[in-house]
Amino acid sequence: MSGTRVLYRARAFDTPDDPFDPATAGPGFRHDDDLGLLVSDDGVIRARGPFAAVAAAHRDAAVIDLRAGLLLPGLVDTHVHFPQVRVIGALGMPLLEWLDRCALPEEQHLASPSYAATIAGEFVAGLVSAGTTTSLVFGSHFAPAVDALLAEAERYGLRMTSGLVVSDRMLPDPLLTTPQRAYDEALALASRWHGRERLRYAVTPRFSLSASDPVLAACRAVLDSVDGACFTSHVNENNAEVATVAGQFPDRAHYVDTYDHHALLGSFAVLAHNVHPTDPELAVMAARGTAVAYCPTSNAALGSGMFPLTRHLAAGVRVALGSDVGAGTGFSIFKEGLQAYFLQHLMGDQGMPLGAGHLLHLATAAGAAALGLGDTVGDLSEGKQFDALLLRPPPGTALDIGLRHAETPEAALGKVFALASDADVADVWVGGEQIASGGFVRPVTPRAPAGRRTPAG
Ligand code: GUN
Ligand code: ZN
Repeated sequence: MSGTRVLYRARAFDTPDDPFDPATAGPGFRHDDDLGLLVSDDGVIRARGPFAAVAAAHRDAAVIDLRAGLLLPGLVDTHVHFPQVRVIGALGMPLLEWLDRCALPEEQHLASPSYAATIAGEFVAGLVSAGTTTSLVFGSHFAPAVDALLAEAERYGLRMTSGLVVSDRMLPDPLLTTPQRAYDEALALASRWHGRERLRYAVTPRFSLSASDPVLAACRAVLDSVDGACFTSHVNENNAEVATVAGQFPDRAHYVDTYDHHALLGSFAVLAHNVHPTDPELAVMAARGTAVAYCPTSNAALGSGMFPLTRHLAAGVRVALGSDVGAGTGFSIFKEGLQAYFLQHLMGDQGMPLGAGHLLHLATAAGAAALGLGDTVGDLSEGKQFDALLLRPPPGTALDIGLRHAETPEAALGKVFALASDADVADVWVGGEQIASGGFVRPVTPRAPAGRRTPAG
């Protein structure tokens, strides 16, 4: 064990057991009023227990008292688009029109490395401000822009998986590539970033609608060349999209098969949306261990449809949350949790009733598991990395009042999902390093230019 150790004292919630598993006893989350977490200087939680007991066993550790707030595992966003930070909030359009009119014009601007660097700064600050410590990020179609994103993520010490977005049809010309170029640029990017600090590479065809078989085959070739790389794309988001893909791939059984045909699905893969799956598609995803990013604000904003969470869980498909910025309405995974609760509730018999423990699980441990990081992060157990956020609502706000008067832990956690926003995320740690304090985000690595501060609210 390393030398320096810090003992955090906090009121904490996490979900080491899956509340969707019928074997998990209620309320489906773990709550500790006065928890001690001993963290070594490599960021690992070395001891956990009642504060008094951990303090007595480790009298040399410096104590940091966080009881003014509420400690949660760092949030996990399993689907968020780097180049779309400036298009959040364009309402009233279905997917394909929104892509044409909003997302794709903006994404072309990232051909400029200086513009891409500016967007990378805005994007990473958006994640940190929201308390998102781990993310699977849809990168850019331009390799230098992906470099800018990953450099910025590294500067802040974020846990991020991302890569070059590739397409060879149906998009504006500047966003198109060829199978060979897609392969070469991906390999060059992966050689620079995959496995460095807390970063990993994600092979990322935009969606089958814009990626021909040769590009999808090139994606498989990248996976073969980059050990431990992830895969991500979109699937079954919108009915017009699904119909177009069916016409483009007459020889495939269904949309999921357009990826599965090239062996792109596995436990290393996350597909976003899947609002309109057939049962055979769910069966393939379950068999491959592929997870789905449920993006409730995006599904509602684009009118994509109601996500069949019950059917996914019944089929054995793993599900976590994605903000889907910029079709989604912001970086907050708390908001995605609340929106999931609303929409599942509104689905009546077809919906999955969600309690506060389900929401915390979807926002943290389920995301970590979907990204293959379940042994590293997702809850505050001994042996995990200390990735965490401290909620400290400004005095007098509804969340502050609610938390002070909540009669049960379940009521308190419900108030977190109903009311918490970026403004309440005070402190953020990744791997034991503090990357936001008092609501201000800051880089942690030696490469950081001195003195940069970005307001978190
Ligand atoms: N499908 C293909 N590209 C996109 C995108 O940028 N956003 C969403 N929501 N769906 C997509
Ligand atoms: Zn998306």
